[in-house]
Amino acid sequence: MAKTAAEKWDVVVIGAGPAGYVAAIRCAQLGLKTLCIDEWKDHNGDSTLGGTCLNVGCIPSKALLESSHLYQQAKAGFDQHGISVSSLDMDIATMQARKDQVVQDLTQGIRTLFKANNVDEIHGRAKITALDTVVISDRATRKKIKKVKAKNIIIATGSSPIRLQQAQIEDDYILDSAAALELDEVPQRLGIIGAGAIGLELGSVWSRLGSEVVLLEAMNEFLPLTDNKLTNIAKRSLTKQGLDIRLNSRMVEAKVKNKKVHVIYEDKNGEHKEVFDKLVIAVGRKPNSDRLFGEELGIEIDERHTIIVNNKCQTSVPHIYAIGDVVRGPMLAHKGSEEGVMVAEHIAGNHVDVDYDLIPFVIYTHPEIAWVGKTEEECKTAGIKTNVGSFPFVASGRARAMAETEGQVKIIADADTDRVLGVHIFSAQASELIAQAVLMMEMQATAEDMALTMFAHPTLSEAMHEAALSVHGQAIHIKN
Ligand code: FAD
Ligand code: NAI
Repeated sequence: MAKTAAEKWDVVVIGAGPAGYVAAIRCAQLGLKTLCIDEWKDHNGDSTLGGTCLNVGCIPSKALLESSHLYQQAKAGFDQHGISVSSLDMDIATMQARKDQVVQDLTQGIRTLFKANNVDEIHGRAKITALDTVVISDRATRKKIKKVKAKNIIIATGSSPIRLQQAQIEDDYILDSAAALELDEVPQRLGIIGAGAIGLELGSVWSRLGSEVVLLEAMNEFLPLTDNKLTNIAKRSLTKQGLDIRLNSRMVEAKVKNKKVHVIYEDKNGEHKEVFDKLVIAVGRKPNSDRLFGEELGIEIDERHTIIVNNKCQTSVPHIYAIGDVVRGPMLAHKGSEEGVMVAEHIAGNHVDVDYDLIPFVIYTHPEIAWVGKTEEECKTAGIKTNVGSFPFVASGRARAMAETEGQVKIIADADTDRVLGVHIFSAQASELIAQAVLMMEMQATAEDMALTMFAHPTLSEAMHEAALSVHGQAIHIKN
């Protein structure tokens, strides 16, 4: 019997997270015959799209952050408005069901978008077996489902939590971030290894709901990538909220005994013991590049298993691209999505670049921590002279009306050109405010451009305006 030829696509995308699904949709919009392959299964064992971000990352964490913030507000924030709550209750099952529904609606939304844009979809594990061939198998049985041919391949396989040798994951006790989003009751004492983005966000969720949360962080600096002054304010605020953040604390071992997690860690004063009901490991993520292609294909990876790419996200094989968490750069959904668009345009013969200097970062604590561009310390190290302006929310009319007076905006401008080099915010809705800074910097605006722009009153955004004015000592609502 004659062998049937494998079906051929212009583009085969491996992975349907925010990098892969966006790349697939843009490719299809540009008229390319596109297939997206993903192996993810939801709670019910059904295939689902959206990857880490939608299923166990950005979205479920923000849903729980919102619910827990509302609970916290009802518990302690309403009194000042004259609103009293006589009996406050919390139903974790309903909270979790709402979160699951948000996830389901959004992942189904991607399937609808795939259909609307004619993106083909196959569920299963993909392996690149030749420079133009991808074989898809069932993840569990490893049985081959299909072999497809591709003119271009986009690898968007994302990342997975880093495991620690000295604290092996153990159901119900030692958890990764995905399991920490699924708890059905509030642990009395929750330990978290790593005070990074996940540690702070999940720590906030469970602390607001009543857990005593201890974060053990190996580094002696808190959030070293952002502005020193703002991280100091943020750390004080989070500590006041109940997060016990212990820097310079390296875990030695974690063992489950008598239904508790016994942790030994060391700091500059020696070894210490802690006992927790649950322990979450949140020490970073590693790229998913294993078992995806053989060495003979010549796709290069580095010692951390990151796929090596150029500034167009081409691997060492030019028609095989890699985007998102599996390549260099911060592991953020929006960074992966923008790379997806850039690659789609490149395949279609167009030119779009990603500006890696203008990636916004947000940590969704309350207040939120957000930044883009350089810190003052980085400018100093690079020998760049700067003018710095800042504005505290305590002087903002809107922030006062909202009872959200914590935090400030800091704007760093080049002393010679006045171009804005970095913006750092700690405030309510900092995640929304930072977009103004990104746009401004994308347009190469100066601090003066922003100072001469009109902002609606009363808004939190006026703090951005005042910080820009303060770069040249012209702020109105604070003493310069
Ligand atoms: P992923 O989303 O990991 O998707 C990769 C996909 O590839 C998966 O669906 C996987 O099933 C599939 N895949 C892998 N290998 C194969 C294979 N061989 N065959 C077929 N399919 C395969 N980022 C933000 O920007 N903002 C946030 O607020 C935020 N919050 C987060 C909260 C948590 C708790 C976590 C864990 C992460 C968070 N992130 C956040 C990070 C964000 O989730 C990632 O940066 C983003 O998901 C990366 O997108 P990606 O498409 O590269 O990979
Ligand atoms: P992370 O890199 O943000 O933080 C990990 C922390 O663990 C670091 O501070 C590190 O010093 C510490 N650490 C490492 N090993 C340790 C050890 N043995 N003992 C104690 N501390 C140790 O990584 P995290 O929080 O796991 O998040 C993974 C990725 O997901 C991040 O790259 C982040 O960008 C992304 N993410 C983004 C979010 C956002 O944008 N709001 C929210 C959550 C995750």
